[in-house]
Amino acid sequence: MSTGQRDTIADAAAEIPAEATVETIENSTTNRKQPFPRGFLDTISTGWAERPETLPQPRAQAAFAAARRAKVSAAFPGKRLVLPAGSLKQRSNDTDYVFRAHSAFAHLTGWASDAEPDSVLVFDPVDGGHEVTLYFRERADRTTTEFYADATIGEFWIGPRPSLAGVAADLGLATAHLDDFAAVDGERVLDDDDELTRFVSELRLVKDEFEVAEMRRAVEITAAGFDDIVRELPSAIAHARGERVVEGVFHRRAREDGNGEGYDTIAASGPHACYLHWTRNDGTVAPGDLILIDAGVEADSLYTADITRTLPVSGTFTEVQRRVYETVREAADAAFAAAQVGVRFRDVHAAAMTVIAQRTAEWGLLPVTADEALDADQGGQHRRYMVHGTSHHLGIDVHDCAQARREMYYDGILAPGMVFTIEPGLYFQIDDLTVPAELRGIGVRIEDDILMTEDGPVNLSAGIPRTADDVEAWIARLHP
Ligand code: GLY
Ligand code: MN
Ligand code: MN
Repeated sequence: MSTGQRDTIADAAAEIPAEATVETIENSTTNRKQPFPRGFLDTISTGWAERPETLPQPRAQAAFAAARRAKVSAAFPGKRLVLPAGSLKQRSNDTDYVFRAHSAFAHLTGWASDAEPDSVLVFDPVDGGHEVTLYFRERADRTTTEFYADATIGEFWIGPRPSLAGVAADLGLATAHLDDFAAVDGERVLDDDDELTRFVSELRLVKDEFEVAEMRRAVEITAAGFDDIVRELPSAIAHARGERVVEGVFHRRAREDGNGEGYDTIAASGPHACYLHWTRNDGTVAPGDLILIDAGVEADSLYTADITRTLPVSGTFTEVQRRVYETVREAADAAFAAAQVGVRFRDVHAAAMTVIAQRTAEWGLLPVTADEALDADQGGQHRRYMVHGTSHHLGIDVHDCAQARREMYYDGILAPGMVFTIEPGLYFQIDDLTVPAELRGIGVRIEDDILMTEDGPVNLSAGIPRTADDVEAWIARLHP
């Protein structure tokens, strides 16, 4: 809800003489309750056309969500399960963050960027399984104060809201009004119940056909966003806060073609690239530097890409930049080659780290040999230059399946349908005295999104140039 809208109405209401007050907005948390005069109240509920509803066909995801719910039901026989979507979160005073449903809720309902705050998915145990009901606050009719006076949920303020029948048809789920939802003793509630939280997280480790298609879509829009950034590099260079230009260019694409970003964009130019999650993005984009951009579009279904490219701002890498860049690519390619069905997830990381240890040892950066650095107990000296992991599962959350057990995640076995990142990097902080001056301030990460198949790994983001030569050609092509 924009404050601008509120101010407009408030300004109008402020012109109404106090003695005309016959009703105030009761649900306000501020002292800005605005009076409505009698004439308004007598007429506001009438004169609206009927809204005959044509029920939609079930959305594409409905059948997939039903299959996911069947697995949850089978895992918790006889238990009442409650999976809340979550509520609006206050940003400041009377402004909230954009609502984003809990990932497990979205996964099990198929209700994604269009989900209603405060909804609850409930599995009630019955003979032979569960009866599943989606409770939500149906739109109010136009005779209610909610319709015209509630700036958070009133249709006059935020636009049309769904009906119980419409959502039931759309999602292929029984629906009921939120007022009919009752908490009962002994139920298992998502996020309060470790076993349920873990189960629904592990349920997402292997993606179904719908999810894979959405991941491809998220990557495709992200690729277009990266093209936009390359095109706009001159504007970024020209602006005092060029990193914000990069962030904004990507945001525009993410909002126009998707729901938004799956996480805050990292636009890290020059030495900022060495700060792994640099999201302040208030720096310049200087010719001669590298800029590391880690960005992912979240589709309307909430599935997100997570892609990093590191670009030479001027269009060509210097010799030393290229050496670092191609080493990171070598590590990424080694990880990609290691990512095979039946392999342990953490062995993908090990493959990348072997390259990082070998090269940093060759460059004389380590106080030990590469083999010593790779020793599980006494080693790790090379990790100074890459402290993060190489891979994480990816899907409806950028760090998907995070509540999965270790034996299902880091020690888990790669299987067809898994989607994860490969994202090695090398980061030489500007004040790191263990590296020669020529390396200081250089940070490189290359991050791709990988789909595991029976035939091996597929790089979903391979269409975004990733070798040093291809990156240079890409920039040249978009700046003829
Ligand atoms: N963008 C966060 C990550 O790469 O994991
Ligand atoms: Mn990542
Ligand atoms: Mn990333």
